[in-house]
Amino acid sequence: MTTNYQLKRVDFIFKNENDWEEVLSKNIERPSQELINELISSELKGRGGAGFPTGLKWKLSAEAVDEIKYVICNADEGEPGTFKDREILSRVPFKVLTAMAVCGHVIGAKEGYIYLRGEYFFLQPELNKAISEFEYYCKEINLDFKIKIFMGSGAYICGEETALFESMEGKRGEPRNKPPYPSSYGYMGKPTVINNVETLAHTFTIFKYGAKRFYDLGVQYSRGSKLFSVSGDTPKPGIYELELGMSLADFVDEFGDGDTKAVQVGGASGFLVPRKRFSETAIGFQGKLTGISLPTGGSMMLFNSSRSMFNVLDNYLEFFREESCGQCTPCRVGCQQLLKGIKAVKRGEKNAQYLDKLMRLAETMQYTAKCGLGQSVANSFSSIVENFREEMIY
Ligand SMILES: Cc1cc2nc3c(=O)[nH]c(=O)nc-3n(C[C@H](O)[C@H](O)[C@H](O)COP(=O)(O)O)c2cc1C
Ligand code: SF4
Repeated sequence: MTTNYQLKRVDFIFKNENDWEEVLSKNIERPSQELINELISSELKGRGGAGFPTGLKWKLSAEAVDEIKYVICNADEGEPGTFKDREILSRVPFKVLTAMAVCGHVIGAKEGYIYLRGEYFFLQPELNKAISEFEYYCKEINLDFKIKIFMGSGAYICGEETALFESMEGKRGEPRNKPPYPSSYGYMGKPTVINNVETLAHTFTIFKYGAKRFYDLGVQYSRGSKLFSVSGDTPKPGIYELELGMSLADFVDEFGDGDTKAVQVGGASGFLVPRKRFSETAIGFQGKLTGISLPTGGSMMLFNSSRSMFNVLDNYLEFFREESCGQCTPCRVGCQQLLKGIKAVKRGEKNAQYLDKLMRLAETMQYTAKCGLGQSVANSFSSIVENFREEMIY
């Protein structure tokens, strides 16, 4: 990934476009394969964090043979520091509803659900109004597609797609074994497309203006724009749509307070990047921390020199310990042990070398935990301990 790029603001997602009826009626007349090809050539990747190619996801579900299929919009938005999806749903809900219905047309689904984070109950009345208006129009154009809201109940793990299905089915929100993947075995065991709110909103842009307009933004492997939830020690907290591929140095120039010592990219489950690595780090989908580019679901938290990195890590580990569903041992026990361990080192009850043991434990979790929650604890743990070791010890 190249980083020779200037930070560029974009206005696709929140641009008010009152022609959703036209976008919907035109696109449901297009053959499924043509819409899939449009998405594939845009190179849109999922904005929920993992970056799975959206066109391929829709294609796999379209190819699954079943009478019943589902489209699910993941609006659980539980990652600490992320607050963009609620804005999309409150400011441009028709883009998301239109995208869900076009997806239904592509894969052959007649039902869609919005899995809405429990704390976003205040969005429900307006969203229900939008859904009624939307369904009224669907009837007018003879489109058989219904959308319902399913309220989450406040567990971070229920944002994980298979735990989300379990929760919708009335069971404990615990991740399933994968494979099978949602494209063949999702909600109620049926082929399901599950996409993040922002991903769906981008498909609206692609279906309205064509793939090229999206593809022309960003860089290789990371095409298009992305919403960033900017928080922490910044004079400009808020939500910004930016072209992908920017360097972290450019980002900090724009949003830092002049004293930024580190940026947490991707929320608690992402990586902490120290100042010395800002210019060599780009924001995008290819590679991991040392591979120079970092993916993010949008959370960008800035920390200045007044912040204790021990407190930051302590806070993340409390969060993971609380939110671990407890189903698998590496995560259930590992989160507890990491938290206890760093506290013991900070109090001087364990020496600094104990941190190396904890790093090995975090690495073991990365390879042995069942789902992304336990697997990603090592991201923030290792990047904070490696870069701010002196702040961890007594
Ligand atoms: C612990 C955990 C929490 C997650 N929370 C969310 C979430 O709140 N919203 C979301 O869109 N994806 C979340 N995901 C990712 C989903 O499992 C899934 O990859 C995503 O909804 C797919 O949509 P996309 O392809 O449009 O990104 C989470 C994953 C994990 C492991
Ligand atoms: S990694 Fe954690 S959250 Fe995921 S299944 Fe195991 S215990 Fe549950």
